[in-house]
Amino acid sequence: MTRPVLGVLGAGKLGTVLARLAVAAGYQVLIAGSGDPERIRLVVDVLAPGATAVTAEQAARDGELVVLALPLGRLGTVPADALAGTVVVDAMNYWWEVDGRRDDLVSTSTQVQAYLPRSPVVKAFNHLGYHDLDEGPRPRGAADRKAVALAADDPTALTLVAGLVDDLGFDPVPIGPLADGVLLEPHHEAFGADVGADELRAMVERTRQAQPVRPGTGTATWPANQPGTSSPGIGRAT
Ligand SMILES: NC(=O)c1ccc[n+]([C@@H]2O[C@H](COP(=O)([O-])OP(=O)(O)OC[C@H]3O[C@@H](n4cnc5c(N)ncnc54)[C@H](OP(=O)(O)O)[C@@H]3O)[C@@H](O)[C@H]2O)c1
Repeated sequence: MTRPVLGVLGAGKLGTVLARLAVAAGYQVLIAGSGDPERIRLVVDVLAPGATAVTAEQAARDGELVVLALPLGRLGTVPADALAGTVVVDAMNYWWEVDGRRDDLVSTSTQVQAYLPRSPVVKAFNHLGYHDLDEGPRPRGAADRKAVALAADDPTALTLVAGLVDDLGFDPVPIGPLADGVLLEPHHEAFGADVGADELRAMVERTRQAQPVRPGTGTATWPANQPGTSSPGIGRAT
């Protein structure tokens, strides 16, 4: 089966794990940090052997499917023109410590889609910690296979990314439109979830019942205690 070339923007904790899993699944992987590829070449050789260190521009341009695995606060440095027409996976979370305090607590994907209007955006891979992702892959049909939730507006993009999730060794669980991705973000039950598909669906539904997403906004009823609240066992961006 022909797999899309995977671009990964971000060669940190999440990006290198995704790159390693994708190489293992047979993908050609282009991975970039924010600067000269030389700066990440050793890290990539050690943590994601088989992936190719490139510039962010190159990963965005040559990737046929591109994952954003960088701090949300760095979104404005992502090469939007090079991503036009490409399906983009938003794996990011909002962390006030890294991204700055902000009052517009909408889904990260709503912001990403506004920044990349010519790229269909899919939310995925944000709720699992990088260690869990690293240790999680299981063959299709395995009883203990873990799940990765996806939110998307574009059905073709959703199918493509669901294929990536499956190839990497997880059950894809679509939860609804892109704005619903907020239900997977910090301070919601599914954030940090390292569970199977049925349990993940139940977590999302409980949150949806308790905190309906406001239509079209990707804004759920966020708890008041954002800053300083500790994360439920998921690696932070720093
Ligand atoms: N850590 C986790 O377990 C985990 C799990 C799920 C989701 N996430 C989310 O994934 C994102 C990354 O988290 P992380 O823990 O992997 O962070 P990290 O270890 O700090 O890595 C961030 C990476 O992003 C790179 N970067 C910054 N601007 C860039 C740009 N314009 N183009 C390409 N790369 C750029 C950085 O490169 P430089 O060093 O060159 O600046 C660095 O390699 C965050 O939004 C986080 O919430 C993290």
